[in-house]
Amino acid sequence: MRRTLEKAWGAVLLAATLVAAGCGAGGSGDGASASAPAATVLAAPSALVATGGINKVTLSWDQVLGADFYNIYWSTNPGVTKNTGQKITTSTTPYLQSGLAVSQTYYYIVTAVNDTGESAPSSQAATVVATDGAGLYQNYCANCHGPLASTSIKEGTPDNIKAAIAASRGGMGWLSSFLTSEQIDLIAQQLPCH
Ligand code: HEC
Repeated sequence: MRRTLEKAWGAVLLAATLVAAGCGAGGSGDGASASAPAATVLAAPSALVATGGINKVTLSWDQVLGADFYNIYWSTNPGVTKNTGQKITTSTTPYLQSGLAVSQTYYYIVTAVNDTGESAPSSQAATVVATDGAGLYQNYCANCHGPLASTSIKEGTPDNIKAAIAASRGGMGWLSSFLTSEQIDLIAQQLPCH
């Protein structure tokens, strides 16, 4: 009989401990929950990726729950911070920044903002905006015309390149959907007779 009681008490104590532990985790929330939303600082944006194009960069990151908008801070110097970066405010991801310099490396961080304030910054992303003419040649022309230094192209003027692409000489036609006029100019600057 006594044993049974002890057992029973043990069970009650155990249950009480479990309940107390449960309260410890969630219980203080009773008091704190009223002020919790205001105190919640937004999470820093994650998965920031910067992809360079010609004179433009596309930035994307994972949306932050509760964010009203985002601040992008960019710089041409590494180690960009909220203080050193130039600020762009946007409500959408991905974001396209245009008007950038070719072959320049741009560095970015992003923060999330709502009326509770601004989150900590994301980790930094960097990108080189557009490769230069030599890089473009290597990507698009070297397969068929050989290395830049000994290219088989005889008249590498922008007009000749465009004409060769338009006429799809040697099957070059597919380049029309890849190369902009500006990129062709950049390639031409690397070629003989430009
Ligand atoms: C799929 C292979 C291929 C690729 C890729 C290619 N070409 Fe050509 N291209 C040819 C062939 C074949 C010809 C015709 C043969 C010739 O005239 O030398 C030609 C001709 C040309 C001509 C006219 C002839 C000359 O020598 O002036 C130019 C200019 C030219 N290509 C530039 C380029 C440039 C710039 C690129 C890269 C953006 C490029 N091509 C990429 C195969 C290619």
